[in-house]
Amino acid sequence: MTLLRLEEVTRTVELVEGPSLTILSGVNLAVSVGDRVSIVGRSGSGKSTLLNLLGLLDKPTTGAMFFDDKPVKSFSASARDRARGRDIGFIFQQFNLLQGRTALENVMTPLLYAEGRQFWQRSKIAREMLERVGLGNRAQALPDKLSGGEQQRVAIARSLVRGPRLILADEPTGALDLETGASVMHLLDEVATASGAALVTITHDPAIAELSSTHYRLDHGVLTPVVSHLEAVPA
Ligand SMILES: Nc1ncnc2c1ncn2[C@@H]1O[C@H](COP(=O)(O)OP(=O)(O)OP(=O)(O)O)[C@@H](O)[C@H]1O
Ligand SMILES: [Mg+2]
Repeated sequence: MTLLRLEEVTRTVELVEGPSLTILSGVNLAVSVGDRVSIVGRSGSGKSTLLNLLGLLDKPTTGAMFFDDKPVKSFSASARDRARGRDIGFIFQQFNLLQGRTALENVMTPLLYAEGRQFWQRSKIAREMLERVGLGNRAQALPDKLSGGEQQRVAIARSLVRGPRLILADEPTGALDLETGASVMHLLDEVATASGAALVTITHDPAIAELSSTHYRLDHGVLTPVVSHLEAVPA
């Protein structure tokens, strides 16, 4: 099933001086349940702008976007917020954990906006999620007492704790060494698979991109599919 579909999407911004700036143009992309998509591109090519659109944090200037086959344009602001909270998890390069809050409190945060069991059992659910990322014994640790790799594992637990169907990762390994980055990505893939979520990863690192099954390049706001060298080799 197609979770998210973009048709001829553009994003332009009006600049105070001079003509408007086109950040994305003619973007076509479909993401289905269980997909592993990577997007590579130079700094300034529009990757984060695209991810903000995919995460319903921003709207296309022109073109159409569908979430669960429903036009995003027709969503009210609160319907968009609800869909984002329930179905989308974000992971950022700089982890973006709440400082001064424990690992457990960080993972619990998204559950404060949930309903029913997810809300009432938030502490238990968050603890189980921390255990799944191998940090059950660091539940009371503050972010500044954790290593970069551990902080990113907390961020992964937080992004997955409501069982999203789409995980959006913007340079998730950008602040980690190669080995830690690779182990964090494998963990992310594993927990995404366990919860049946699609994963879209933005990265500069070809080795991280190779972990995906569908590859795209973004060049000056134009998205093009890439056939992986590995896939091109006959069996
Ligand atoms: N609100 C805005 N107003 C003006 N320019 C913007 C705005 N948002 C993004 N841009 C510009 O659009 C281009 C793409 O930005 P974006 O953050 O999407 O790049 P990126 O590919 O994520 O880069 P990086 O790899 O450095 O994170 C940049 O030139 C940026 O300066
Ligand atoms: Mg960026």
